[in-house]
Amino acid sequence: MAKISLFGATGTIGSRILREALDRGHHVTAVVRDPAKLGETHQNLTVVVGDILDPASVTEVAKGQDVLVSAVGGGHGDGPGHLATVEPSAKALVGGVRALGDEAPRLIMVGGAGSLRTPDGKQVWDAEGLPEFVLQIMHAHGDALASLRTVTDVRWTSLSPAATIEPGERTGVYRTDTDNLVLDAEGTSRISAEDYAVALIDEIERPQHVGERFTVGY
Ligand SMILES: NC(=O)c1ccc[n+]([C@@H]2O[C@H](COP(=O)([O-])OP(=O)(O)OC[C@H]3O[C@@H](n4cnc5c(N)ncnc54)[C@H](OP(=O)(O)O)[C@@H]3O)[C@@H](O)[C@H]2O)c1
Repeated sequence: MAKISLFGATGTIGSRILREALDRGHHVTAVVRDPAKLGETHQNLTVVVGDILDPASVTEVAKGQDVLVSAVGGGHGDGPGHLATVEPSAKALVGGVRALGDEAPRLIMVGGAGSLRTPDGKQVWDAEGLPEFVLQIMHAHGDALASLRTVTDVRWTSLSPAATIEPGERTGVYRTDTDNLVLDAEGTSRISAEDYAVALIDEIERPQHVGERFTVGY
């Protein structure tokens, strides 16, 4: 069983990752800002307070772990949250993990779909009519991925959701790609947050994408 530290465990996606990891017998340390917001107790769950933007705090919660997962975001709506959180957190996570040298855990970040390639050879964020705040979120994730791609001394992985990810059913069935948007037979790109979590925990149990981004959809 893996020892997993998880940032963002109170979020929509992070809470599904937490549930999937616990259901599969892994030991999870949820690193939160406010423990009162995490409505979850489990014999394999430890809750600590930490700051994802502080490399020293990251190092502390990464010690002795097999994997450090980040599912943080900047909240929903049109505020500047993602700009302040997503790319800076990639840098802080890498710095914090790197400090552990040979003892460093693997790093897995929840990414964005914006930079994925579409069948017309463009990227998702090139679509016409996207609201400005959505573009900002997509590019914040694009900047985080670009930052990760410069890193060769930390075992990082970025997992981009499908274009649409929402709470739904856990089917356990999904398809993956690396840089291409996964589309179903109707040309729709979607995944439930539950199946996204299945794919992420599968990657922890059977690593196939160390040092690269991959994506998941139906
Ligand atoms: N199709 C797509 O590409 C797509 C779609 C959806 C989401 N996403 C990405 O997936 C990620 C997670 O999305 P979500 O919908 O699950 O987000 P969410 O529900 O808003 O949850 C965000 C989580 O991040 C935590 N957080 C925010 N700032 C933090 C900080 N400075 N330090 C520590 N924790 C912090 C929050 O903790 P608190 O409880 O303390 O606030 C919360 O647990 C986001 O980066 C989002 O952009 C991508």
